[in-house]
Amino acid sequence: MKAQASPPPTRWDPVTQLFHWACAALVVALGALGLYMVDLTSQVAKIRLYALHKSLGITLLALVVLRLLWRWTRRPPVPLAGMSRRHQLAADGMHGLLYLLLLAMPLSGWLLNSSKGYPLQWFRWIDLPALSAKNESLSAIAKAFHEYGFWVLVVLVTGHALAALHHHMVLDDGALHRMLPWRRRGQLPRNPT
Ligand code: HEM
Ligand code: HEM
Repeated sequence: MKAQASPPPTRWDPVTQLFHWACAALVVALGALGLYMVDLTSQVAKIRLYALHKSLGITLLALVVLRLLWRWTRRPPVPLAGMSRRHQLAADGMHGLLYLLLLAMPLSGWLLNSSKGYPLQWFRWIDLPALSAKNESLSAIAKAFHEYGFWVLVVLVTGHALAALHHHMVLDDGALHRMLPWRRRGQLPRNPT
């Protein structure tokens, strides 16, 4: 007898939720640290905070790769009720761009570091290879990408968070609760039959 396909879930699974909020917290920390460290005058503090920024950035890169692998092996939840096809496509496009920048930001930082000729260590523990040889013009491109890319990410993340709040407060369609570990009051367990 043919096995019956199970219906898609109605919420994001706990692992995806953990990845989502850990990545969000890391992006905020990396942005704040990046903006703060570049203007430091103390060389000792600068070297320490640059090293921390790079290690956290590499951690984010690893988390995003794991998150994408996890995402590709699971079924995403059912589309939100009341979302038109165009609206769904726009949301998917926005999420795709976010993933792209979540990869491009740490990679451009890594390339910037390598093309400047600096070594890279993850939390003073693991030596990471250089992505390129020392190259001043490449480092200028990577630096510009890293700086402007950050502001593009800020705009996208702000739009994304506002959209999530709009779904939560105006449309009241449970979108935010699908990405949170607790359910809405009165929400039934998943896929009730
Ligand atoms: C740096 C911050 C953030 C990043 C990089 C980020 C990134 C993402 C990405 C890539 C997805 C798509 C998940 C997928 O389809 O695999 C997503 C989903 C989601 N995010 Fe964020 N996010 C951030 C902050 C926030 C904040 C602050 C909120 C809430 C105010 C939020 C609420 C949501 C919700 C509700 C979903 C699920 C949407 C759905 O079910 O279709 N995110 N986020
Ligand atoms: C999502 C991850 C990351 C974010 C959001 C981020 C963000 C930032 C920001 C906002 C700055 C300050 C830019 C400026 O105003 O000059 C910065 C600088 C920098 N970042 Fe990142 N960064 C990330 C990952 C990385 C990684 C993984 C590395 C290296 C392995 C790295 C290396 C650097 C370096 C070397 C600078 C200093 C550039 C300079 O001296 O002008 N970043 N980053």
